[in-house]
Amino acid sequence: MQGLRLLLQLQLLLLLLRLSVLPSPATAAQLGDICVSNENCDAGLHCETCVASGNGLFRCTRIQPSDPKSKGTGLPFNRYSWLTTHNSFAKLGQKSRTGTPVITLENQQDSITDQLNNGVRGLMLDMYDFLDDIWLCHSTGGKCYNFTAFQPAIDVLKEIQVFLEANPSEVVTIIIEDYVTSPMGLTKVFNASGLLKYWFPVSRMPKNGRDWPLLSDMISRNQRLLVFTSKSAKEASEGIAYEWTYIVENQYGDGGMEAGACPNRAESSPMNTTSRSLVLMNYFPTIPNLATACKHNSAPLLSMLNTCHNLSANRWPNFIAVDFYKRSNGGGAPEATDVANGHLVCGCDNIAYCKVNASFGVCEVPPPPAPTTNLSGANGNSSGSSIALLLAHQLRYLWLAVIMSICISIR
Ligand SMILES: *[C@@H]1O[C@H](CO)[C@@H](O)[C@H](O)[C@H]1NC(C)=O
Ligand SMILES: *[C@@H]1O[C@H](CO)[C@@H](O)[C@H](O)[C@H]1NC(C)=O
Ligand SMILES: *[C@@H]1O[C@H](CO)[C@@H](O)[C@H](O)[C@H]1NC(C)=O
Ligand SMILES: *[C@@H]1O[C@H](CO)[C@@H](O)[C@H](O)[C@H]1NC(C)=O
Ligand SMILES: *[C@@H]1O[C@H](CO)[C@@H](O)[C@H](O)[C@H]1NC(C)=O
Ligand SMILES: *[C@@H]1O[C@H](CO)[C@@H](O)[C@H](O)[C@H]1NC(C)=O
Ligand SMILES: *[C@@H]1O[C@H](CO)[C@@H](O)[C@H](O)[C@H]1NC(C)=O
Repeated sequence: MQGLRLLLQLQLLLLLLRLSVLPSPATAAQLGDICVSNENCDAGLHCETCVASGNGLFRCTRIQPSDPKSKGTGLPFNRYSWLTTHNSFAKLGQKSRTGTPVITLENQQDSITDQLNNGVRGLMLDMYDFLDDIWLCHSTGGKCYNFTAFQPAIDVLKEIQVFLEANPSEVVTIIIEDYVTSPMGLTKVFNASGLLKYWFPVSRMPKNGRDWPLLSDMISRNQRLLVFTSKSAKEASEGIAYEWTYIVENQYGDGGMEAGACPNRAESSPMNTTSRSLVLMNYFPTIPNLATACKHNSAPLLSMLNTCHNLSANRWPNFIAVDFYKRSNGGGAPEATDVANGHLVCGCDNIAYCKVNASFGVCEVPPPPAPTTNLSGANGNSSGSSIALLLAHQLRYLWLAVIMSICISIR
């Protein structure tokens, strides 16, 4: 009872704190602004706190990279960078579809559909034979169990199919940690999901480090799904690209987080192997950690981006893979993706500085900070609905605080 009371008091304190630091009424809050809930923040942002890096206040932080396609699609695919989720399917708090509670590691906070809508374009999926089907699972020794199984792969593949159907210019990459041994197991599940229609054929994938087809070409041919497997034999038998023929990848887990180093993972060629034209950078600890992810995904991620660039024959990663991609203390993994895209697309420090269709090396002057909306502003745009929204939130939290104080005093 004491513990519960303490908890309630703590909650009340937090609520009051969040109330007291409310911004003066304004329209949707921008990056770094203090907020109460996600709805307060501009599009592409959400409201969160990063205690791990000493920021206890709730602020609007980024969850969405800038779309590099907005600067043109005329470059080879290997000249773009994509935000990638590690174990995309291992969603926090999800129950196994076998009905058993999941007792395994969890790496992300939202569904594949939500991830795709937020601009994630690389998905790392672990696939296993299980219950006469292919399942997404997080296990050891290549064997899936009820308590390590998340859901049948077909469900997630169908989510991807729906996204590609609804967004005819988007290109998605799936990287499979492949434990499937049933004959044609992957082919069957991809076929059943309706994804073969978007398949980028292995025959068009460049060997020996040459440039990939143009992004515009992939879009116009509707070859908008790239699939890589960790099993080499499946390239010949099922037409699924063997990852390590095309991609170099650094060490995952704690071994990939040592500042100043960017060692390749065992299966990959060294990072500076230019006969592989795609580069993937992992940056997440061995044991996923929701609390520290916001710190890891911030300055240390940007720093590793530079380190890996220098040690990958001066190549910026095409895929930036993290845990809890929405967590950061500001720009996070979306910003790292924007930085990589800036260098890849136009040779500038951020994709924001690239001009549409500009030739390499032509940078836009960094734009001035966006004007803050001013309630008494000259443009007269006092956006009453936003104020109402904020007031409504304020009232909601006040109301909660009142109820909690009553609860505490009764005890
Ligand atoms: C695992 O889950 C399946 C599907 O719900 C069920 O049929 C099976 O009995 C379960 N196995 C164990 C060992 O609990
Ligand atoms: C793919 O699915 C279609 C029906 O949707 C089926 O006729 C065909 O045999 C399947 N092919 C494979 C290789 O599973
Ligand atoms: C590539 O990296 C390896 C270390 O992984 C290093 O020994 C080698 O000298 C590098 N090669 C080039 C050409 O930079
Ligand atoms: C990467 O290389 C550049 C140019 O040599 C250097 O200025 C920079 O400090 C290096 N960055 C890291 C993180 O090693
Ligand atoms: C960029 O290039 C594409 C393809 O050539 C063209 O359709 C588009 O209009 C160009 N946009 C600008 C702003 O130059
Ligand atoms: C808001 O607009 C008023 C009137 O234009 C101006 O006097 C004031 O300085 C502005 N405040 C801010 C914070 O921009
Ligand atoms: C006024 O606010 C609306 C909605 O927030 C926005 O779409 C519009 O561009 C604003 N107009 C001006 C003149 O700032």
